[in-house]
Amino acid sequence: MLHITVEDLGQCNTGFLAIPVCEDADLSRNPVVVKLIGRAMSYPEFKGGAGDELMLYDPEGVSASRVLFIGVGKKEKADPESFRTAAGKAVKRAIQSRQMDIVFCGCGKKAFVHAIMEGALLGNHRFDFYKQDRKKKPLSTITVHVEPSRQDAFEQAVPGIEAVCRGTIMARDWVSAPPNDKRPDMFARSIVKAADMENLTIVDIDERNIRKNKLHALLAVGAGSDTRPRMVVIDYRPDKYDKTIALVGKGVTFDSGGLNLKTGSGITDMKQDMAGAAAVAATLITAARMAIGHRIIGILPLVENMPSGNAYRPGDIIRTASGKTVEIANTDAEGRMILADAIFYAVKQYNPDTLIDVATLTGACKMALGNKFAGVFSFDARLAARLVSSGEKTHERCWAMPMPEDYRDMLKSDIADIRNVGKSRWGGAIAAALFLSEFVQDVNWAHIDIAGPAFSDKANAYCPSGGTGFGVRLLIDWLGGL
Ligand code: BES
Ligand code: ZN
Ligand code: ZN
Repeated sequence: MLHITVEDLGQCNTGFLAIPVCEDADLSRNPVVVKLIGRAMSYPEFKGGAGDELMLYDPEGVSASRVLFIGVGKKEKADPESFRTAAGKAVKRAIQSRQMDIVFCGCGKKAFVHAIMEGALLGNHRFDFYKQDRKKKPLSTITVHVEPSRQDAFEQAVPGIEAVCRGTIMARDWVSAPPNDKRPDMFARSIVKAADMENLTIVDIDERNIRKNKLHALLAVGAGSDTRPRMVVIDYRPDKYDKTIALVGKGVTFDSGGLNLKTGSGITDMKQDMAGAAAVAATLITAARMAIGHRIIGILPLVENMPSGNAYRPGDIIRTASGKTVEIANTDAEGRMILADAIFYAVKQYNPDTLIDVATLTGACKMALGNKFAGVFSFDARLAARLVSSGEKTHERCWAMPMPEDYRDMLKSDIADIRNVGKSRWGGAIAAALFLSEFVQDVNWAHIDIAGPAFSDKANAYCPSGGTGFGVRLLIDWLGGL
């Protein structure tokens, strides 16, 4: 799929050559490229500004029949994301032109060339499984042209970049899948099938064993659905490792709100509520493919939150796996319930060095940070800072949120150990994070609320509308830096 070439660009046998262009600096010293850019810049409509595009057909000096110039703006301001975006756009144009392949001029620093590869692979994904008419086919080959002295280094980077992009696309497809095709049993099977091909141990825990393990909060949330809850555990255990990491992902395959039924547009895209589980499952599969050097355990509570005669009710008191009792103030705050049990189970069974949960947990987090930032909640400022830094690198951006102890009062219950929703609606994302913290014991922990960035109703340069796969690139980068 992704190849590196050093052959003469002028002779490149392709229908589509893409050249990133800086507004105020030369990214490449290659004479063929310099000449082509000079030609492009002679048109007043193209100056190499961010977002500028110019297509030339059959230009002199190259055998490619189309050359697309894509502006990345001023050198000072250009960052890897500028190149990811440029590459994604170029791939879209190539697909529109009914091409099967594209060649990129891989110019600029290492991080820029890696970003071109990533943007191209991610931009080559379409979610069209449910369409009868699939005229627009993704490209079958993406080639990046680099200077001969850098060939080896870039070739070595290809498998990792391919793996992480495949993982992201896998997560996107799961999130975009309709909720009737990913009810807990189906989603569990789909995860088991995907993970089965890799060096992973998978346990699909059914309702009987969920009961045996006293995961009553998970059972309570699942009670209203005709499809029983599941818990999938994926264990990646390399021969040699010294750290054990647990990743817990919220897997609500559809969140109707339960008896506190969501209304209006609130319910519309709630198939996305398993995006945490999708990101974690895809991260484990990717970690195995990349042979990451830590033991990683993925714990995925899967459930459908539905109203019915058997659904859990506001007012119910549930005894969680930890023994703590929770008064249900709102059945729509179901994510923290299933995570409470899954986190407790993860700590009890695996005693990890660090535990991270990923969840589309609160509308409040989306309200606070919009749809491009995830909220990171941790008592460990260093862990939060590392995640924020991985977010900057991958452009899966995170913002560290506060965990004020005195907000815990919001969760006080008169008749149980804790309520599942704060008494005030303010600070809802913090209240949810503090709720989770009650089940973590003394393990090093971070919670990532991805309610904002998990799903997008608009496409961007390298992601179609629907699931974004947010979390996979972030977690893989963080794991790689441990
Ligand atoms: N799944 C939702 C959160 C959500 C909202 C995810 C928007 C993605 C986009 C969650 O289960 C939920 O319903 N949370 C409630 C909590 C409230 C009842 C305290 C919310 O955010 O309104
Ligand atoms: Zn909910
Ligand atoms: Zn939810």
